[in-house]
Amino acid sequence: MPEYTLRIRRYDPQSGEAPHWDTHTIDLGETQSVLDAILKIKDDEDGSIGIRCSCQQAICGSCGVRMNGKPGLACNTHLEEAARRGQGTGWNPPDEGQESPVITVEPMGNMPVIRDLIVDMDSVHWKKVRRVTPWLINKEPIPEREYIVPHDNMVDVTQPMACIQCGACVSDCLAMEVDPLFVGPAALAKAYRFVGDPRDAQHAERLRDLSEDSHGIYDCTHCFNCIDACPKGVDPMNQIMRLRRMAGSDHEIKDRNNGYRHEHAFVKNIRRNGILHESDLLADSYGGKFNPSAGRELVSGLPTAIRGLTKGKMTPQKLLLHTHKAPAEVKRLFDQIDGKPERNELNLYVTGYEDEPEPHAEGAAGREPAEEQSAPDMERKA
Ligand code: SF4
Ligand code: SF4
Ligand code: FES
Repeated sequence: MPEYTLRIRRYDPQSGEAPHWDTHTIDLGETQSVLDAILKIKDDEDGSIGIRCSCQQAICGSCGVRMNGKPGLACNTHLEEAARRGQGTGWNPPDEGQESPVITVEPMGNMPVIRDLIVDMDSVHWKKVRRVTPWLINKEPIPEREYIVPHDNMVDVTQPMACIQCGACVSDCLAMEVDPLFVGPAALAKAYRFVGDPRDAQHAERLRDLSEDSHGIYDCTHCFNCIDACPKGVDPMNQIMRLRRMAGSDHEIKDRNNGYRHEHAFVKNIRRNGILHESDLLADSYGGKFNPSAGRELVSGLPTAIRGLTKGKMTPQKLLLHTHKAPAEVKRLFDQIDGKPERNELNLYVTGYEDEPEPHAEGAAGREPAEEQSAPDMERKA
């Protein structure tokens, strides 16, 4: 049976002592979980280690921790997988004289530590979830029998509905590190769960609220950490992008944070140049170079431009001249997309086919060519 070394971060804020690391060596099968190892150490060596857990089956969402630097569920992470995360990253080299793989276990980030591996979910995660009105506000009149929801809509909200509120995405959200007031990935995924539900009566109000909030949907920096972290495939960042598209394209909400104009400036910039011409982006986001508010922003951005020039990251030519124009192909693609009567989105969460035969199995008819598959199976509309 392989041997693993677990380095567990210990901290009791009430003790007044600084955090420290405890090291334990344990023999367990490589497919046993990190939670199995922690519970065994608790049973055999030190019952005082603080960890929250319940189902041990990736359902209750209570055992979120960071393992070798990455957040996830301790009960859903094999020891071997957690150990591999530390290899070759410089993150977690074995201590001198130690040969067994090392797994560092820490509490999740962006939330205060209550004790050891237990964080205060209530003051951060649940507070943010409550912020987005996490319940359905039903349409009137209420039908005599149940509301009928089209199948595609239900499939679409299945993805955010899979959230188990473990907080792993919150733990590593870069935007939240910079702005602790950011509504955050889990709460915004929850918001999409209702904005994508045709039974809800307040889509526009919800979208306006989250667009106008300076810590709302336009605060996300597209870092993808929440997608990597989520053990349930909720892809919170994708739900945030859907909220943005619905706010900007469907409801045309021109928010005071300039999120709407900034996104449209990107599109305009690429359409014109084929590649992003960053020095135009700021002015475009404020209505073009000759708009008075753009002038103010350009003046405030001058120190950054000067720093870029003096450090050689920018040249006067790049700053002032457009050396690249969009080829006809880019323009054709834009026209093609703009010409579509409605916006289609692929929901890649639900994929594959029931009872699909193995492609090379004996007697299998093989997969149909993609163009012959029926449209509802191929794409889900948001
Ligand atoms: S993609 Fe956005 S919401 Fe997700 S972790 Fe990064 S900043 Fe946070
Ligand atoms: S979105 Fe994923 S990572 Fe975030 S709380 Fe829900 S299940 Fe956990
Ligand atoms: S113990 Fe329930 S999700 Fe891990």
